[in-house]
Amino acid sequence: MLPDELRAAVDADRTREAGALFVDLVASYFQRTGAEDGPVSPTAGHLDQRPRLDEAMPERGLPLADVAARVERDFIAGANRLAHPMYMGHQVAAPLPAAVWTESVIAALNNSIAVMEMSPTGTAVEEQVIRWMCGLAGFGSGSGGTLTSGGLEATHTALLAARAEFQPDAWKRGIIGTPPVIVCGEHAHYAIARAAGELGLGTENVRTVPSDGWKMDASALPRVLDTLAAEKRRVMAVVATAGHTATGSFDDLAAIGTECETRGVWMHVDGAHGASALCSPRHAHRLRGIERARTVAWDPHKMMLLPLAAGAILARDERDLSAAFEQQAPYLFHGEAGTRSPDQGTRSFMCSRRADALKVWVALQRYGVSGLAALHDHTCALATTLHQMIGARRNFVALHEPESNILCFRWLPGDVHDEPTIDWLNLRLRERYNASGRGWITSTVLGGRRVLRVTLMNVRTEERHLEALLDGLTAEGAALVEEPA
Ligand SMILES: Cc1ncc(COP(=O)(O)O)c(C=O)c1O
Repeated sequence: MLPDELRAAVDADRTREAGALFVDLVASYFQRTGAEDGPVSPTAGHLDQRPRLDEAMPERGLPLADVAARVERDFIAGANRLAHPMYMGHQVAAPLPAAVWTESVIAALNNSIAVMEMSPTGTAVEEQVIRWMCGLAGFGSGSGGTLTSGGLEATHTALLAARAEFQPDAWKRGIIGTPPVIVCGEHAHYAIARAAGELGLGTENVRTVPSDGWKMDASALPRVLDTLAAEKRRVMAVVATAGHTATGSFDDLAAIGTECETRGVWMHVDGAHGASALCSPRHAHRLRGIERARTVAWDPHKMMLLPLAAGAILARDERDLSAAFEQQAPYLFHGEAGTRSPDQGTRSFMCSRRADALKVWVALQRYGVSGLAALHDHTCALATTLHQMIGARRNFVALHEPESNILCFRWLPGDVHDEPTIDWLNLRLRERYNASGRGWITSTVLGGRRVLRVTLMNVRTEERHLEALLDGLTAEGAALVEEPA
């Protein structure tokens, strides 16, 4: 028998008052970050928060209010505050609040998307959202897809589907003979090399195409493919990137698509970052040619500003996804052989899975695709504005013109001209700036040089915050050069 006390505790936690404890935490986080109250990264300089939570497993429970207080004190207080307009770090959004609140509905219902009988409305919502996304990608009837944990999984799934086409019995027998090659740009995300490793192809069988302007030089692709043909190597897929991780720039999908069509090669588009531009009449042209892809990875949890996790894999022919996972599971999947299964689990890497599609659906219901496009365009416009501001400042130089919401630039500390020293100073400047609590940015290496990198994914960020960024970096830079050696 369940002890009365425990039953009462579970019942009490189901009430509106209990839920309000957590709603209050979130609303107050939104309110404080909105008012720009407090540092962007409260743990700056004390990144390792593990000691805070290093304690014995609780033997007995606490009142929910005490637990909520601990969440505030021991979790929220030490977390990076992405909702702060000065957070300009990695490609993770300050999520749209309507989607944040939806999370509790998804969790409360806990209908798993593995099979339709477990999640009738979840399956319907996911199918609908996927249909909308396929429509924007220019995929017609027969297309389909499924939500994923993110771009990494989506690209893995796409390459699994390409492997099934390359060698239809690979699922059972593994790759026979010399493994096929995957071709991608030199700045492509590590998802591709990782998939090559995971799929048993070997990372040495990823060949890269040189870049032009930090994206694949499409004119160099035929040469790479010719070289592989001369070596008698077969190509399993060419991966184009729509929204490069480092710079947010877009490969020429039309040119790459034409080359792939001519040679009968599978084109996968890693649009994890950039495919959301399809929502935007202003930016959709960046993805011209995407309809030629066999598969597309697209993360709504990036430029559609949704909370993690909401990724998606789209296939021009949905049957390619079923072929990727040749799985029988009579205890779960009940579809008839030869007919389309309504169970999304047959097309997914995952089994039990949240109805994350609901977040995408709610965001679309709340803002419409035009609203999401305007939010998307705002973040891209900020990057353009920052580029202009940098052009007007003596101590900064931009590495590229932004094609989306990402910009890489370098701090030039006046009287230092030695490039390796400037590299080191940029690295230290980022650390110092982030530790100051003024803001939060990232850095990367481009063309062998250390650069600062900003990703704008908060619709509450405005021009004045970009000025504050450059002022903050200038101030921290001045202090940095004064630091004792
Ligand atoms: C181009 C690209 N592909 C794939 C990924 C991986 O996406 P996720 O982190 O959602 O798995 C990223 C992440 O930044 C990315 O920029």
